[in-house]
Amino acid sequence: MPILDPHSFADAEQPQTRHLTLRLTVDFTRRVLAGEAVLRLDRDSGGPLDLDTRSLTIRSVRCGGREVAFTLHEETPILGQKLSLNVPAGESEVTIAYETSPDSSALQWLSPEQTAGKRQPFLFSQCQAIHARALAPLQDTPRRRITYDAELTIPAALTAVMSAGPAAPVGAHTETKVLAFHMPQPIAPYLLALAVGDLEARDLSPRSRVYAEPATVDAAASEFSEVEAILEAAEKLFGPYDWDRFDMLVLPPSFPYGGMENPRITFLTPTLLAGDRSLVAVVAHELAHSWTGNLITNATAEHFWLNEGFTVWAERRIVEAVWGQDAVLLAWANGAKALEGSLSRYGKDSPLTKLKTDLVGVDPDDAISQIPYEKGARLLVLMERFVGRERWDRFVREYMDRFRFSSITSYQFLAFLEEKLPGTPFAVRAEEWLYTAGLPDNAPAFPSAALDAITSLASGFTAGERPAAEVVARWSPGEMVLYLQNLPRVLSSEDCAWLDANLALTGRGNHEILVEWLTVAAGSDYEPAFPRIREVLLGVGRVKYLRPLYSALGRHPRTQALARDCYAAARPGYHGLSRRVVEQVIAGY
Ligand code: BES
Ligand code: ZN
Repeated sequence: MPILDPHSFADAEQPQTRHLTLRLTVDFTRRVLAGEAVLRLDRDSGGPLDLDTRSLTIRSVRCGGREVAFTLHEETPILGQKLSLNVPAGESEVTIAYETSPDSSALQWLSPEQTAGKRQPFLFSQCQAIHARALAPLQDTPRRRITYDAELTIPAALTAVMSAGPAAPVGAHTETKVLAFHMPQPIAPYLLALAVGDLEARDLSPRSRVYAEPATVDAAASEFSEVEAILEAAEKLFGPYDWDRFDMLVLPPSFPYGGMENPRITFLTPTLLAGDRSLVAVVAHELAHSWTGNLITNATAEHFWLNEGFTVWAERRIVEAVWGQDAVLLAWANGAKALEGSLSRYGKDSPLTKLKTDLVGVDPDDAISQIPYEKGARLLVLMERFVGRERWDRFVREYMDRFRFSSITSYQFLAFLEEKLPGTPFAVRAEEWLYTAGLPDNAPAFPSAALDAITSLASGFTAGERPAAEVVARWSPGEMVLYLQNLPRVLSSEDCAWLDANLALTGRGNHEILVEWLTVAAGSDYEPAFPRIREVLLGVGRVKYLRPLYSALGRHPRTQALARDCYAAARPGYHGLSRRVVEQVIAGY
């Protein structure tokens, strides 16, 4: 049997699911989704069918109205449980009655106290890379794209959103209501998404609105008010936006990521609500996935850089178009430090620093780092510079036309590049970038005298250099982050006190600045910052912030104790993904 995807039990030779119908009741009391999934197959030839599941209870399997025997295999550590059945000849629909488990890895169930409003519970999903199987039984590989319909029965007081067309109410009872959703475009299963809670919406443009809890919806509307300008810039670069609406949902603080590009409803962390619109590049990033990721999708997690590297490249082109050259140079400079961090975390000879990774036996959640993002984007800039922007932009449009609504590998990308711009892969040493570890020595540079001045000021800190008050006052939030990123990781108490007093760091609400500072403070065993560190660790579940903070706390016995203490208190509120990362970090102390 040819292997389709190292992270799926789906078999290359078996029928393919084309359409999925979900009929689910969202049960907040039992913390389960219960109901049925109907898989419509591409043929009625019958025969064996293997599906992916994780922590699902399978009640029955039916084809053409008759019960069919099934086998739910032993749990395997990374992939979950294979569900095998035999489709009778002549049948092309499989109906599976099932329910999820309260600790489904795809779902986080929040009690009312864990929300901003404190009155209603909240549920959200996060399926990338291989958690859709913990939501529904299916062929959970991006190589098997599906359209879908869903009917959700939810508590009458709540609202639901899905990665699909807008909800249509189809039924109401005293305590519950039924909403219907429809996604007519074929998507990878990891883009299935739902959220249920006390949600309100604000329109930002005719095709975009933001959903959030009532307490945060106005702040969200103001933070993301530039969305239409971002959409228009993206369309100018990459072609018409193909997904009808671009809505956004601001999640509770335990959301483990900065953003997730669920089609038609991007999910966002509330830490973007800095009040100064300084973090909207994340919106540009998730929007860019509408082309690079959702239209053209990585065939498996081993080609993840095709999603993320391409999207960082696209995000930065949007940033340049909307906010200008200085803004984009700053983004590349911040990204360079993040890349350095990931290279040193894995070690620059680690196979996980290749762009095309080998993930047989590796959980894709353990392979996420800045490498596919920042190394991937740098390879594309190298190509762009080699052929010139005009030819590159034409190539990108051709690439989008050729592969739209398909899932591709790195080899397909390189072959298409060679076909359209012969000699380019060889000239930029694309194979070295894809298949060897570390950052090749022809990586593009992004020179900027202004930013170099900030980084050298930071490197001179221990030698006594201090930024003047009027210089600091002129820094944008991103420049402040760049300065902090370039400081030594361990400072004396006096130096920490100087920084905190002169840059007013501990009181910041912008989490990019705040966490960069608290990471230095934690690594420096700087006690006055401990209460704020605790507050952040207990208040926010975003992995991007938890990893560096918990790692820096590992440096000293006293801060290790603080980390263990914070984790014990924060664990019940963290998402499963965040728990996993923090436990790995603490185990390394
Ligand atoms: N698709 C990713 C998030 C993701 C990756 C979830 C892998 C699960 C597995 C999303 O587009 C993303 O990259 N988010 C970033 C923000 C972005 C601006 C770099 C994040 O969450 O930090
Ligand atoms: Zn992304």
